[in-house]
Amino acid sequence: MGKRASFGGRLGVLLVAAGSAVGLGNIWRFPCELGQNGGGAFLLIYLVCAVVIGLPIMLAEFSLGRMGQSNVVGTFRRVSGTNKYRWIGYAGVLCALLIMGFYGVVCGWTLDYVYQAVAHGFSSMTSEELSQSFKDFSVQPVRPVLWMMLFLTINCVVVFLGVKEGIERTSKVLMPLLLLLVIVMCVRSVTLPGGSEGLRFLFEPDFSKLTPQVVLNAMGQAFFSLSLGMGCMTTYGSYIGKDINLGHSVLQVTILDTMVSILSAVAIFPVVFAMGINPSSGPELAFITLPNVFNQIPGGYIWAILFFLLLSIAALTSAISLLEVITAFVSEELKISRKKSAVYATVLIMILGVFASLSLGVWSEYKIFGFSFFEFLDDVTARFVMPLTGLSISWFVAWKVGRKRLEKELTNGHTIRAKYLGVFLFLLKYVTPLAIIVVFLNQTIDFF
Ligand code: PFF
Repeated sequence: MGKRASFGGRLGVLLVAAGSAVGLGNIWRFPCELGQNGGGAFLLIYLVCAVVIGLPIMLAEFSLGRMGQSNVVGTFRRVSGTNKYRWIGYAGVLCALLIMGFYGVVCGWTLDYVYQAVAHGFSSMTSEELSQSFKDFSVQPVRPVLWMMLFLTINCVVVFLGVKEGIERTSKVLMPLLLLLVIVMCVRSVTLPGGSEGLRFLFEPDFSKLTPQVVLNAMGQAFFSLSLGMGCMTTYGSYIGKDINLGHSVLQVTILDTMVSILSAVAIFPVVFAMGINPSSGPELAFITLPNVFNQIPGGYIWAILFFLLLSIAALTSAISLLEVITAFVSEELKISRKKSAVYATVLIMILGVFASLSLGVWSEYKIFGFSFFEFLDDVTARFVMPLTGLSISWFVAWKVGRKRLEKELTNGHTIRAKYLGVFLFLLKYVTPLAIIVVFLNQTIDFF
């Protein structure tokens, strides 16, 4: 067997893993959740969740992946020395596939909006027209499907090119660009007259808004945003060099991801407040509210293009990581070339995506438990598959891998220090599982 591919170094690891973490979840979902869950109070709880749940699970996934040196299924087999825990890996691959089924559709929308922003801008449209235009677009049978296919093809090309030449190279170009775009948009937003109201909403916690549901939403958001619970960080962990300090990398990725979420909210809320728009408008925030907002600010044509470009870049680097989970699995477990595996996986995702996209329009009368197929994929993964896989991964690392092997992995064979090991294991053994179980039970009760 040839030498396994690996990322170039510390910066490569950071940008690739942050590329996975920073996605639609930060720029689209986080500001929405924040708006709907009372602003600053949500932010505070989110930060606690990122530290108490996010950090330990990401560290667990990274160490597991680097120990196993294989795809997510192979890793469980190699680390445990038996086939008994392979199912956790299968659950991860399934989860990545299901998520890509609907994520790919939204990714396609972002491309269409880049196109619209460039082609005609949104300035001639009233807010009613914008809202109608988004609804008309998302239920169409052909246009969203074509954009999705284009997006998934670009995604496939990156993964097809390989871990270093495709994934790492793309992340190294796109992530700095993404950071630059977010910062530029923030500066624009906070310098608008009337924008300070938005900043107050963001940073002044109103604890009267704090309900158990807000806490649960924050936990779910931390999971999704940090790409945990589906073997994504496990697969990426297998490409991390043995000389990299995993503790540092995990901390850096979490900080960067959280920073982009906060910056996105800073880019969005002051503008929303300055224009007197209700901050709690749901997922349509990105596709309806913001174009409307851009219409009203000077240079709106350019800002709209930059915003949708930012959204598509973030979407791409995350979609790459989801496709990599499936590609590595197909290629290594079924012994098919990497290139063919990327193509097969993409075709499978496209089929799911076509169903998901059509389920919002021409097939909307077909429901699964009362949900459209699109909503079903989103709901089932967020409520069940992700938390359960996340729980199983952390359980396996905490209880089956054992302190000694973990210590060896985290200290790079006892060459560096990992003073946090005790706290990490405590969180992973007790706090993280408890938190996930509480979220899971709540979600389940809610679902039925
Ligand atoms: N973290 C990504 C986001 O915030 O949009 C979504 C995601 C990517 C989730 C990869 C899970 C994953 F494995």
